[in-house]
Amino acid sequence: MSDVFENVMDLAKRRGFIWPTSECYGAVAGFIDYGPLGAMMKRRIENIWRHFYVVQEGYYEIECPTIAQEAVFIASGHVKGFSDKMCQCPHCKEYLRADHVADGGGVSGAATMDNATLAAAIAGCKCPACDEVLGCVDVYNFNLMFSTTIGPGSQRVGYLRPETAQGMFVDFSRLLRFYRDKLPFGAVQIGKSYRNEISPRQGMIRLREFTQAEAEIFVHPLEKNHHPAFVRYANYRMPLLTYTHQHKCEPAVEMTMREAVDAGVIANEYVAYYVALTHELLVTVGIRPDRLRFRQHLPDERAHYATDCWDAEVYSERFGWVETVGIADRTDYDLNAHAAQSKTSMSVFIQYDTPKKVERRRIIPNMGVLGKQYRQKAKAIFVALETATPTAEGADVIVDGETIHIPADLFEIRDEVVDVRGEEIVPHVIEPSYGIDRMCYAVLEQAYAEDTADGEKRVVLRLTPKVAPVQVAVFPLMARDGLDTLSRDITSTLQKQGILAEYDDSGAIGRRYRRQDEIGTPFAVTVDYETKETGTVTLRDRDSMKQVRLKIDELQQTIPGLIEGSMQFATL
Ligand code: GAP
Repeated sequence: MSDVFENVMDLAKRRGFIWPTSECYGAVAGFIDYGPLGAMMKRRIENIWRHFYVVQEGYYEIECPTIAQEAVFIASGHVKGFSDKMCQCPHCKEYLRADHVADGGGVSGAATMDNATLAAAIAGCKCPACDEVLGCVDVYNFNLMFSTTIGPGSQRVGYLRPETAQGMFVDFSRLLRFYRDKLPFGAVQIGKSYRNEISPRQGMIRLREFTQAEAEIFVHPLEKNHHPAFVRYANYRMPLLTYTHQHKCEPAVEMTMREAVDAGVIANEYVAYYVALTHELLVTVGIRPDRLRFRQHLPDERAHYATDCWDAEVYSERFGWVETVGIADRTDYDLNAHAAQSKTSMSVFIQYDTPKKVERRRIIPNMGVLGKQYRQKAKAIFVALETATPTAEGADVIVDGETIHIPADLFEIRDEVVDVRGEEIVPHVIEPSYGIDRMCYAVLEQAYAEDTADGEKRVVLRLTPKVAPVQVAVFPLMARDGLDTLSRDITSTLQKQGILAEYDDSGAIGRRYRRQDEIGTPFAVTVDYETKETGTVTLRDRDSMKQVRLKIDELQQTIPGLIEGSMQFATL
């Protein structure tokens, strides 16, 4: 019996949502094509994401190359540590993710095992490809980045980015200037990321090329508990599966964001704000709240850079709970790493409200004597003295590896109180990171339904009108007697309003409804003989299959209202 995954993928292929890529040469695992309807639906989901992050939050979008030079990924830690544990089946020679083999074979704790322990632990597990017991295998680390060289004949190593995030980090100084040197600010990016996944067998869930939508929000480290708009989500209530609940095998508990921050369940207001925003966003694109949960990473599961991390997981009938969005407090890890690697400053000068009086000890060398006595070394000694710790006898300084004792009569110590205007700080980063392809799959899976219409099985995609590729279909009852001309006029009026309206006059009207139901078109306008007499049309709702009669002029207000959600079909 086929499951929902197979039904959804069958429909997706048949109706032009998703296709295996370069199928005529034999598809390659981990790559997909979005067909005409899939690409449109994906764009709509991305634009909802933009609405939240760019319009609501005011974080501008940037676009960086998908290839970057090696230094970027040395700094980020990807060259050294972005790997999965791999083994090869000795029977069928398939390469496998060792931790997935362990999970499938009921071995727990694979994530924290070293390679030798994991190899021993999976010896009794079956190969998911050929079903033979693995036996003795080697487990080793496989780096997931795709590497390349930049320029012809060049030895300059580059990598396809495994996340969009690094583009925002390396652009930090320019972004800071763009935002007029003030925290907090954010930059966002939607684009392709690449990971050479070991055995991508889960359709759109695990791809080698996929689309991420990431926001990097730069905040003052001491202000993480003061999100300026926290009030927007303070009373937003949702179930949270904390790591303590997971340890005790307890279910998630419902809390408001205010309660979660006050109880120390979520690390700070910024993380809580984006957890709630993510919940609202996912529900807006059509994820059912009862199939959505927020799970806190266990301390040993968190990325090395993160202090708190929550995954938005969406329930799939085929794959179980699937991580779809990660919301992490990345601290100052990335900016410090890039500052050290690039030797450029990645800090912000924060001016105090009023200058602070600070006691300072200055060491003022007697340059006349120092110059004569130490000649070419005098300048270096002068610099070294500024940070020296003098005693009554003098100060020891190191110049070119040599320790030189400078007698106390060659400098003067002056204690003074100075005004300090502010300080340099390295911002912390809060990062909500969305996997757009996983969102697309979840939306399709949850929208897929079968029911009966006119005594026949009907396949319908109950997509929320906001993400449906075709927003309204326009049908003449008959393709003659002027009904077709009227229908084309209505179609073009709606198109001028920016609505994707599709004219269709082929086949019986029932078949036309079924075709649009299957691709998720939420509304259909039918022009019949009454239209010519009364100037009215029928408007049909995909989900209830009910119809109402409206004046043609009313469509221009009603259709956008229904799509945006400011009007409901039931109240027409
Ligand atoms: N910058 C942080 C980051 O990249 P991640 O958890 O590795 O974090 C973020 O990825 C999101 O990207 C995931 O929650 C998931 O939705 C998506 N993602 C990651 N790997 C993927 C893959 N191989 N195929 C499809 N989506 C993927």
